Amino acid sequence: MDTIVVLDFGSQTTQLIGRRIRDLGVYSEVLPGTEPIPESIRPNVAGVILSGSPASVHEPDAPKVDRSVLSLEVPVLGICFGLQQLIERAGGSVARASRREYGRAPLRFRNNGGAHPLFRGVSDNFLSWMSHGDSLSSLPDSFEVLAESHTGVPAAVRSVSERVLGIQFHPEVTHCEYGNRILENFVVGICGASRDWSMDHYVGQARKEIRDAVGNRSVLTLISGGVDSTVTGALLLDALDPEQVHLMYIDTGLMRKGETDEVRHSLEELGATHLHIIDARERFLSALSNVADPERKREIIGDLFMTVQQEELAAREIGEDLLAQGTLYTDLIESGKGIGSHAQVIKSHHNVRAPLVAEKREAGLIIEPLSKLYKDEVRQLGRVLGLPETVVGRHPFPGPGLAVRIVGEITAERIRILQDADAIYTDELRSRGLYDKIWQAFAVLLPVRSVGVVGDTRAYGSVVALRAVSSADGMTADVYPMETRDLLEISARITNEVSEVGRVVYDVSSKPPATIEWE
Ligand code: XMP
Repeated sequence: MDTIVVLDFGSQTTQLIGRRIRDLGVYSEVLPGTEPIPESIRPNVAGVILSGSPASVHEPDAPKVDRSVLSLEVPVLGICFGLQQLIERAGGSVARASRREYGRAPLRFRNNGGAHPLFRGVSDNFLSWMSHGDSLSSLPDSFEVLAESHTGVPAAVRSVSERVLGIQFHPEVTHCEYGNRILENFVVGICGASRDWSMDHYVGQARKEIRDAVGNRSVLTLISGGVDSTVTGALLLDALDPEQVHLMYIDTGLMRKGETDEVRHSLEELGATHLHIIDARERFLSALSNVADPERKREIIGDLFMTVQQEELAAREIGEDLLAQGTLYTDLIESGKGIGSHAQVIKSHHNVRAPLVAEKREAGLIIEPLSKLYKDEVRQLGRVLGLPETVVGRHPFPGPGLAVRIVGEITAERIRILQDADAIYTDELRSRGLYDKIWQAFAVLLPVRSVGVVGDTRAYGSVVALRAVSSADGMTADVYPMETRDLLEISARITNEVSEVGRVVYDVSSKPPATIEWE
């Protein structure tokens, strides 16, 4: 299959370039920038993109593209630092920055650049997206400017041979006007790559990679109930003989209502034969009794989770061979050193401290089949693998579960009240067509009682806060502007159906200053 190789020099947006190209239906692979392209994929390479980098070409240890890459007979596009290193190599010069340029910048075409295939369909003075320190100061004779900034700095160039192109701006960033069009012009128009990539292809490829890695050994996945680990489990079941696949799920009792059954049901539907569902509800409840401090709750849950996990693995004599984790690209810490070094990094707060993960990693026994994907691609993969929408489309959920949404003490009754209120909220958002528009929505049980009237008597009911936020990655968040009518109807349903709840409030705090979770 035609492949566009994206060479990673450490930019935050490298994977996004690969992702945009896959969105065009063209297969793309992100590889470490400083290494040669592996022999095995070379015949398929239709074009190469050199990513940006936090480094400057003036730094002595700045990453450099391997010479062999430039002798491939395919089009090359340098983006930002990628462009600068190409120009330096060819004898041009790059000026050190006195300050960074960041944000939208209009570009004008030069030398009939608007007629160049890279800019087909792009209008003059389009708003590019810049994020760079250094910039090109002079071009070698073998290059020509296609577009420049309003201060005359080269922003797009081509080599006279036409094989090498470069742009100073970032077409992969959504704020870049015509960004996708420019990538499409390069990938499809200039490289001639065929659009034959789809999620089905990914499954075929992942299947092969998983089979090669696992052989006839067994593999364990710890299922959290979240999308990523469930999709990982589904992928293993698809790729391997279900006899080789052990899925372990610890029911802490702090899951959303019905979640354990849904996870069980969907994995059984996919043919899981070794599904180890551990009922640890009582243990968690008793460990958390009389604990109100949020950090203490997290500690207790994290520690107990690991204890249960180790005890159960030992008792069942599983977990001897490989461990598969649902690590996504965005879970990997951005080290700025290229994807080679990313492999060090691990996922959730449970796993970070888990001796099992450290031990498996040490022994090279970890596989992370989702690590090239973005969250919405994982959801798409889950659908292709046959997971139900309720599982693949679910909002993110914190590791400590409802414990951090029950402010104050945790009791079996308070868990039940929150689960019921939360289930109604979710159900209403789904039926109103709002669930998929919201990054995260959930109910929180507050440690206050407020007065109300039930029939003719005064009653002290619990207070539930509803939260709904828009966000791209959970790092910052805006309040979802819920219609008053929706809020009133949802509130009425909660107070009618959950008799312990006497009052419902809507949380109108963005992040920052608030966090998404209450604890
Ligand atoms: P905050 O509350 O920090 O949450 O704004 C940001 C995102 O992270 C999730 N979250 C957690 N996830 N363990 C997790 O695995 C945790 O302890 C935890 N705390 C918050 C939260 O749901 C949101 O998506």
